[in-house]
Amino acid sequence: MDWGLKNRIARIISPADNKALMLAVDHGYFLGPTEKLEDLKKTIAPLAKHCDSLMITRGALRTSVNPDYPVPVVLRVSGGTSIIGEDLSQEDITVSIKDALRLNVAAVAMSVFVGSKYEYQTIVNLGKLVSEAEEYGIPVLAVTAVGKEIGTKDARYLSLACRVAAEQGAHIVKTYYCENFEKVVKSCPVPIIIAGGKKIPEKDALKLTYDALKAGAVGVDMGRNIWQSDNPVAMIKAVHSIVHGTNNVEQAFTLYKQLSGKPNQKSNNNKPNQKSNNNKPNNKPKKRN
Ligand code: R5P
Repeated sequence: MDWGLKNRIARIISPADNKALMLAVDHGYFLGPTEKLEDLKKTIAPLAKHCDSLMITRGALRTSVNPDYPVPVVLRVSGGTSIIGEDLSQEDITVSIKDALRLNVAAVAMSVFVGSKYEYQTIVNLGKLVSEAEEYGIPVLAVTAVGKEIGTKDARYLSLACRVAAEQGAHIVKTYYCENFEKVVKSCPVPIIIAGGKKIPEKDALKLTYDALKAGAVGVDMGRNIWQSDNPVAMIKAVHSIVHGTNNVEQAFTLYKQLSGKPNQKSNNNKPNQKSNNNKPNNKPKKRN
């Protein structure tokens, strides 16, 4: 592997333990001002030092992340549709490799919509992006998008989507955790990172992290379950304690509670993010994940 490519991957997946904690803040590229991510600077600043890398768009990066702070960047370079548009799967590449280089990225990322009306377009785009990015030693992270119309979050579909992405040359694949996740990991020849998905109770998100790693994922790219938590810094530290530490779910949840100043809080399985949901208007997005 080319030195530059290897070096960039090492900024995302720590060579010390072969694990990765990415903080996802790219949701605005199709969702607009997602709840708790309305003010990018305010959300990102306290969390950036606790992650290995930041999954972000170029607009958010330029406007809302201090360039003096050396957090590795996984730059989302696909887009083209919004939550109120016709079809979320009709994405294209929207950022040039030149601009990605200017932004000194550790990797570029794009979504593939396997099984959708636009699967051909997104899969071909992935192949082209890999060819272009490899010229400069930039790794590509492929995001296997899921949604109501394009496959369910099960091992059969996710194995197919991850494998298709890896066969096109993606260096890392981001997907969703599911039952029999070992099967997805086993049939994908490149490292797999899981997305957190919609907000669930903190203990459940920690369990998701633990189970995914146990099944062979190298890490998480987590967004809403961190910054939509009542205590985002406590949550990212708890996730970190699983990804890069030895904590199990109970230990990580205890840490979360301690850091939140609520050591006696019980896990609240049926009421995800109740407080913040009640405080904000409900801008329910069209379903994608
Ligand atoms: C989704 O649009 C992005 O690819 C996110 O980076 C990804 O879904 C991870 O964020 P979350 O943990 O909120 O699902």
